Amino acid sequence: MESKGTTETNSQTDNKITRAQFTTKLGVIATTVGSAVGLGNIWRFPYETGTHGGGAFLICYIFFIFVIGIPVICAEFIMGRGTRSNIFGAFRKLAPGRKWYFAGYIGILASLMILSFYSVVAGWTIEYLIQSVSGSLALANPEDYHTKFDEFSTGNVRPVLWTLVFLLFNFLILRRGVTKGIEKMSNIMMPLLFLLLLVFCINSLLMPKAQEGLYFLFHPDFSEIDSSVLLGAMGQAFFSLSLGLGCMATYASYFSKKTKLIKSAGITASLDTTVALLAGIIIFPAVFTFNMSPAAGPTLVFEVLPSIFHHLPGGAVWSSLFFFLLFLASLTSTISMSEISIAFFTEEKKMSRRSATILNTAIGCVFGTLCALSFGALSDFKIFGLTAFNLFDYVSSNILLPFGGMLISIFVGWFVDRKFIKTQLSNDHKVKVRLMTLIVFCLRFVAPTGIILVFLNSIGII
Ligand code: PHE
Repeated sequence: MESKGTTETNSQTDNKITRAQFTTKLGVIATTVGSAVGLGNIWRFPYETGTHGGGAFLICYIFFIFVIGIPVICAEFIMGRGTRSNIFGAFRKLAPGRKWYFAGYIGILASLMILSFYSVVAGWTIEYLIQSVSGSLALANPEDYHTKFDEFSTGNVRPVLWTLVFLLFNFLILRRGVTKGIEKMSNIMMPLLFLLLLVFCINSLLMPKAQEGLYFLFHPDFSEIDSSVLLGAMGQAFFSLSLGLGCMATYASYFSKKTKLIKSAGITASLDTTVALLAGIIIFPAVFTFNMSPAAGPTLVFEVLPSIFHHLPGGAVWSSLFFFLLFLASLTSTISMSEISIAFFTEEKKMSRRSATILNTAIGCVFGTLCALSFGALSDFKIFGLTAFNLFDYVSSNILLPFGGMLISIFVGWFVDRKFIKTQLSNDHKVKVRLMTLIVFCLRFVAPTGIILVFLNSIGII
């Protein structure tokens, strides 16, 4: 499970440098899944599903994962492993002298916006971890959890403090380089998180109103599918798969020659979707059992989960373990998104890794503070009617990531040489690729038109 050597840069000349590689299958899966699985699955998926009517949202989300998500992961993998570069270098090597690498700027902007609001939510997990350990998370009534979260999140000190503490952890791991820590951490944390979610799932399925919750989650009311459901589901698919900003390309640049790209893409997407579904199966039966509103928004999970833990024997232990694992899962995700801007600062702007990491963290601290305060002191500060937190969340997930994904799919589908694609997908003709035609077809036609149609639909043109 150890990486073969390490390097902290991946410049365009790095074919000559011994690059770090994930040497085992588990290493590949654990790191890409480590990036994909995080707050997107456990916090964002339930709240987006809850505010967009349940089953209708779920069906659109799964549709986007399969017809757009998996092909675009393959495209990022092809670009990353084929060039052994980050997304900028990949565009440059594959289209020298062309302006395609500008698509990389979208990824940088998106990664910094996501880092800012994501760190706030990761900060909430720190608060809840501390409260679980200290025993103060045990309250009598489900409504009390709403009040408790409200009091905490509207404060001006603790939410900001935990955001900054989280960014500090992120900084410390990033300074050590990519593959060293993450691979080891993901290998242990992911299976544990999965097991824990399974236990909570069984518990939720035994709740009195489990059926109502499952009906809400799995029964699609097609009349509810409108432009906001479509846009939200597409954005969630991109967000949850860490797609459209070059994260998967950067990780793939560390894959070994033997990694099967299509298979890895399929496993990553399936595991990521399974974790999101487990989170849904945990949350919605509890929402109905405790008479809460599924449409509570970003605060949903932080109100429902503690109520669930409270009813479990040994609740404090479960909840401490859970929030600790969620904290780690958030870290493996923020590390992957931070690598995007760090690669840009080091390779395009020729900064040292140290300065690049400091700059990435500093930006996170400034905008993270803004996002953290948007529940309290800055709740009236709105742009386009949205607080800083909601704006960053909405713009990055629903606009920037799908837009970046569209450019990547057009680029690989139309501009990258077929032979290059085939060499990558077949590991230099060593493994059979049956799905290549389908994937290229999706990249050429289905993904770009799908994304454009959803965009046009959401601005009212279609
Ligand atoms: N996919 C991560 C999650 O679900 C979030 C993420 C988005 C990570 C974009 C990297 C890039 O939590």
